Amino acid sequence: MPMYKSLVKPLLFQLDAERAHHVVFDNLRRAARLPGTKALLRQLYDFQHPSLAREVFGLQFPNPVGLAAGFDKNAVLTDEMATLGFGFVEIGTVTPRPQPGNPAPRLFRLPQDEALVNRMGFNNDGAAAVAARLAGRRNRQLIIGGNIGKNKDTPNEHAADDYVACFEALAEVVDYFVVNVSSPNTPGLRKLQEKKPLIDLLQRVQARNLARAVPRPLLLKIAPDLTDAQLDDILEIARETQLSGLVATNTTISRANLTSDETYVTSLGAGGLSGRPLRARATEVIRYLHQKSDGGLPIIGSGGIHSAADALEKIAAGAALVQLYTGFIYEGPALVSRINRALVPA
Ligand SMILES: Cc1cc2nc3c(=O)[nH]c(=O)nc-3n(C[C@H](O)[C@H](O)[C@H](O)COP(=O)(O)O)c2cc1C
Repeated sequence: MPMYKSLVKPLLFQLDAERAHHVVFDNLRRAARLPGTKALLRQLYDFQHPSLAREVFGLQFPNPVGLAAGFDKNAVLTDEMATLGFGFVEIGTVTPRPQPGNPAPRLFRLPQDEALVNRMGFNNDGAAAVAARLAGRRNRQLIIGGNIGKNKDTPNEHAADDYVACFEALAEVVDYFVVNVSSPNTPGLRKLQEKKPLIDLLQRVQARNLARAVPRPLLLKIAPDLTDAQLDDILEIARETQLSGLVATNTTISRANLTSDETYVTSLGAGGLSGRPLRARATEVIRYLHQKSDGGLPIIGSGGIHSAADALEKIAAGAALVQLYTGFIYEGPALVSRINRALVPA
């Protein structure tokens, strides 16, 4: 569907990036309420084929292409996203209490690099509101991941309480969980990726999880900025805390390999970089984790997927599933079916 790149995207890219997000969001939600729109979207975008089905950490995915966390933080549009052909949607990051996130502007485009820089800071409606919304959704087939974090004003010593609170609130309404300790936009959060605090945190959440009649797959989302030694630690921790998998990777704090004007990039300030410039490093991390774990730990690959070839690269490196966000902004919804078509064996 060339309409997105030739017509919709040029208009959206005239707007401030966060405003454009809301315009897309509101229009999609409104349009989907009109009779026939969902069926039309499905016809245009939802490519289905039996060979795309995947069983990963005990869940049945209709296809391996998901919407990454951060796009639908509050689980407002999950059914609509399913009509665009996503096999799963990861909501969040959700925190126990609602919070506004960082002051705007906090989302920026680097069009020349097909990248975004964001420092949203976990703006979200809070776990109870999101859980209530998910409980009321219609499409029960769609696989939902719950990406969970801590409130900004919760000190790291009490971070585990926040993750447990989110877990408890969402356990009945999501299919898998992702513990997010890799966002660069909550001060000190990434310190929780260190061995001791991370083991404590994951053990606390996993203890609750394993006490359930049907435990949920519990995954950890990691930053692309970790060293090999830190990735080795992550694999050891994953074994020790019986994780079901990893999400690799989150956005990067690096500003390497950009062609955008350096002064402009610097003027944007702090934030996580996503999109094309992240692709190679994210794939490298996936390959490393896959090889070091002998393929024993399912990986959801995320970072710079803007084409079918980019998705195939992640899968060849060892990703069992993939997720995208920035590629969806630059390429439009047809990217999802383009990837899925390319995954059907000839
Ligand atoms: C605006 C924006 C907000 C994001 N918010 C979250 C978030 O709340 N939680 C999270 O785990 N990842 C978040 N991410 C990271 C994405 O889920 C994804 O891992 C990352 O952007 C790399 O994929 P991409 O290059 O396809 O965008 C966000 C990304 C963007 C661009």
